[in-house]
Amino acid sequence: MKQSDVYEKLQHCVSAVRGKTDFVPKIAVVLGSGLGDYADQIDVWAEVSYAEIDGFPVSTVLGHAGKLIFGYVDKVPVVCMKGRVHCYEGYTVSDVVLPIRLMKLLGAEILMLTNAAGGVNFAYRPGDLMMITDHIAAFAPNPLIGPNVEALGKRFPDMSEVYDRQLQEIIRAVARDSQIRLQEGVYAQLTGPSYETPAEIRMLRTLGCDAVGMSTAIEAIAARHCGLRVCGLSCISNLAAGMSTVALDHTEVQIAADEAAPRFKKLVTETVKRCAAPEGAKV
Ligand code: HPA
Repeated sequence: MKQSDVYEKLQHCVSAVRGKTDFVPKIAVVLGSGLGDYADQIDVWAEVSYAEIDGFPVSTVLGHAGKLIFGYVDKVPVVCMKGRVHCYEGYTVSDVVLPIRLMKLLGAEILMLTNAAGGVNFAYRPGDLMMITDHIAAFAPNPLIGPNVEALGKRFPDMSEVYDRQLQEIIRAVARDSQIRLQEGVYAQLTGPSYETPAEIRMLRTLGCDAVGMSTAIEAIAARHCGLRVCGLSCISNLAAGMSTVALDHTEVQIAADEAAPRFKKLVTETVKRCAAPEGAKV
């Protein structure tokens, strides 16, 4: 696709959403597999299902109900993606990151990415929450390949601090104050949809990865490109391939997410509140 094609499609999606709501979010939240129930925490002002936005990628995966939810989390205006699409569904990588760019153009300044991930670090347990401190996206297609969309960002964006240091500090503080066990680590994105082999997991561990998944890193790249401040949380749904005697199964994702739900809700809500608070304000 030419730069203008990508941007035109994006503008078209912005107009489609603006035809339905004039809500301006400050924080965008992407709810990963199994974590969609968080949307119940939002005081909803408007909902736009992905199917209503011409050109918007629509998820085919079970447990990824697709809609944008606009509303308030304790007075903070948010837009929440309930469900996302993945490269393995056959969408182009520029379509996969279109929703991220769209939320930026709708006014979001901060992006909170969440996902289900396999634990690569032996210290992790299913149901653990991991704050993403960095990622390895080198095994996934880069979302910025193709002509640069100058209106969004520059050709060679810096990726030395993808996950905002201040936002990480907030998440850490929330976890501490709420007595939530919080892991911190490096997330690796592979394309899926097959799970990794034990040898691939050993490779990832050797490379310094703590968790593995099929979504978030390319979204984070597109987000940094267009100037969003980014933070990320993984819900560890299973120990990755070869780390336990059981075969991997997608049903584990929902089970772990349900177990983590109360902690996840608290962590996300408190983080949203503190992120939106004026500099230095005590919340
Ligand atoms: N690998 C990749 N993605 C995942 C996994 C995994 O083990 N668990 C949940 N998402």
